[in-house]
Amino acid sequence: MSRFAPAPLPRCIVTPLIYSPIYVLDEITSIFVPHIPVPMVRLIALIISIVLQIIAASIALRFMKLTKYRLSWILLSISFVFMAVQKFIQLFEYFRGTPSYSWQMIDEWIGVLISFMIIVGVVLIRELFSSLKRAETDRVKTEKRVLNAIINTEENERKRFAKDLHDGLGPILSTVKMSLSALNDRIKDPSGTIILTNTNHLVNEAISTIKDISNNLSPHILSNFGLVSAISAFTTKINQTKTVEIDFKSNMETQRLENDKEVVVYRAVCELINNSILHSGASRIEIELNKHEKFVTLQFYDNGRGFDTSTLSKEDIKGMGLSNIETRVKTVEGVFILESMPGKGTSALIKMID
Ligand SMILES: Nc1ncnc2c1ncn2[C@@H]1O[C@H](COP(=O)(O)OP(=O)(O)O)[C@@H](O)[C@H]1O
Ligand SMILES: [Mg+2]
Repeated sequence: MSRFAPAPLPRCIVTPLIYSPIYVLDEITSIFVPHIPVPMVRLIALIISIVLQIIAASIALRFMKLTKYRLSWILLSISFVFMAVQKFIQLFEYFRGTPSYSWQMIDEWIGVLISFMIIVGVVLIRELFSSLKRAETDRVKTEKRVLNAIINTEENERKRFAKDLHDGLGPILSTVKMSLSALNDRIKDPSGTIILTNTNHLVNEAISTIKDISNNLSPHILSNFGLVSAISAFTTKINQTKTVEIDFKSNMETQRLENDKEVVVYRAVCELINNSILHSGASRIEIELNKHEKFVTLQFYDNGRGFDTSTLSKEDIKGMGLSNIETRVKTVEGVFILESMPGKGTSALIKMID
């Protein structure tokens, strides 16, 4: 031992005080396992804790690769290894019998190092969690942006297609119609006149079908006059067919919403009505579009046969219509709630911030 090495600690300092927790533990141990001497019990406890520390350290070291060698986990793993080293020092001390000042100091400083590494590791883990949270919010935002882009592209394509149909085929059919009426004066044969009249009918039908298709693809009334006019026009057209009676009410009159929101609500209303006609056998549909202070709500109800909504999650029954509504509503930060029960009709609610 060097000349400057501190003298070993006096015995009384390392001897447990009468009321110290270690003393109490020793007492309890001697009550429960009276036939085993206290030092032996301590040795067993020490060995158990060494084994557990080694297991913990080796698991932590194995996880290092999984965490892509993140500093936070490296620090925590090294702390586990140091904890095991500490236990070895304590075992070594146990067998030496007399405590050594230098080993105790090493033990203490390893303890300080462990605490320091655990603090830094925990702070880094907290950072990791907040960066994970940030990444998750970014992911949701990007997902929304991508969905929006897809929906916008789809709408633009529909518009382009509707315009091409209307502007491309429309004038050609109108010219055919004019040519047919010019022919009308020249055909004297009665059977020829009948053929001409039929052809005229067919051309008229083709013109109105093109108008309908292009209007369904991209309703010009929606972009020019807004949601209330577009839904009114659509429901009036359905009412004329007498398949179902639709009652549409709104407090919005000529008020306009953002283009995205108008398109989302309009497409949803069309799909909901379409579903009622195709699947429910309803005789009446009620639709209310209302603007509140901060929200816009669309309430839909049909008195049809209703259905078990839990079947929607089954892959084989899954249609595109309802899930498309849900996706579209999500892109404008709204909620879509569908309620239905066999025999109780179907109702739906769309709620979005104005
Ligand atoms: N108003 C409704 N009344 C009764 N059943 C409905 C109604 N709306 C939807 N459904 C049921 O939900 C299913 C899924 O609808 P949807 O997603 O629009 O797909 P699709 O109309 O292509 O079948 C329908 O096949 C139908 O069984
Ligand atoms: Mg459908």
